[in-house]
Amino acid sequence: MSSILIKNGRVIDPSQNMDRMTSVLIQDGRIAGYDVAANGQDTVLDAAGRIVVPGLIDMHVHLREPGREEDETVASGTASALAGGFTSIACIPNTEPPIDTQGTVEFIRHQAAEADNCHVFVVACVSKNREGKELAEIGQLIEAGAVAFSDDGAPVYDSELMRRALEYLLMFDKPILNHAEVVELTSGGVMHEGLVSMVLALPGMPAEAEDVMTGRDISLAEATGGRVHMMHVSSAGSVEMIRRAKKRGVRVTAEATPHHFTLTDECLRTFDSVYKVSPPVRGRPHLEACIAGLVDGTIDVIATDHAPHAVEKKMQELDRAPFGMVGLETALGLVVTHLIKPGHLDWPQALAKLTINPARILGIDKGTLAVGADADVTVIDPDVTWIVNTAEFHSKSSNCPFVGMELTGRAETVIVDGRIKFQRG
Ligand code: DOR
Repeated sequence: MSSILIKNGRVIDPSQNMDRMTSVLIQDGRIAGYDVAANGQDTVLDAAGRIVVPGLIDMHVHLREPGREEDETVASGTASALAGGFTSIACIPNTEPPIDTQGTVEFIRHQAAEADNCHVFVVACVSKNREGKELAEIGQLIEAGAVAFSDDGAPVYDSELMRRALEYLLMFDKPILNHAEVVELTSGGVMHEGLVSMVLALPGMPAEAEDVMTGRDISLAEATGGRVHMMHVSSAGSVEMIRRAKKRGVRVTAEATPHHFTLTDECLRTFDSVYKVSPPVRGRPHLEACIAGLVDGTIDVIATDHAPHAVEKKMQELDRAPFGMVGLETALGLVVTHLIKPGHLDWPQALAKLTINPARILGIDKGTLAVGADADVTVIDPDVTWIVNTAEFHSKSSNCPFVGMELTGRAETVIVDGRIKFQRG
């Protein structure tokens, strides 16, 4: 029997349309009630001036284990997640070997249990060995605990394979998370194709490379009735196609990353590979379209695409450096600074995209503070300002484009299953 009382906080839980000053009682790993007075609980946390929310969920994290432990491990990635306020993450299967067998799913779950940081939900490969040729053993992977399917890092390229996967997954009501990219259009590209890439004489990746496949995925989801989730949406065209598809009732959902709603291709004027990411950060109209999509609900989720790369890999010329940036420890600050403070989203709208929406898409019993739910809770200091410094990161990698920036808002205390797993300072 252990109990924690979080008192004096503003409790926001979009799953219950709740936004009020109250206390939250946690007992034996579950949410036990509200409006409770301090009365002999084992721990009492004073959350005056703080926001108390369901533990944040990031449905797009590259943990790199097995195979690339020099970039990240399950232990370091989940520690990074906690420091960012996340109590649940979904890990993407482009590991070495990729997560395409029951054994690899079980390995990740074992490593996560050993690390004992936050919850890890496994996204498994759509195709065997991520080769895009043969469907992976979907049924077995689900039996082992996979919650969704993706070949991210790369798209599910073969349209017939995509159609069959969508059809097959109908049986299990699981989504495919797709990285939309027509690779013939991006081949050799290092940044968004536009005026800036032309001025810099750098090979570009046009927005149409994303749009064409977004359109294909929507058509296939519409035809099959299957569920497709568009990862890291970055182009105005994709946002508009998803908006229209949703209006027609197509089962499409979408996520945007913090870098796509904060950075533009102007960053590449530095020629710094820290800004090299796929899909690329694009021109301002695309950034504004992503924000508009977040505002009107076209984009359901904010996910980081946390993509750690060891310093010696990332510090190469633009054409040789890998795509990707870390994101777990800056996401919340970027949401507060760039979406909430300017008035694009209010706190409940932003939090829905970081809690209940990803939980519903993944079909996981998380993202709520309802009485009886697992006590995954994040206490946020909404007003603290801080400077991004990778020396403070828990991630093994430091490929972060926000270094030196001042952000507002940070996770202060993170509780997983009723246990305090992270406390700042
Ligand atoms: O920038 C990216 N990095 N985009 C992806 O789709 C994959 C990721 C990675 O695995 O590094």
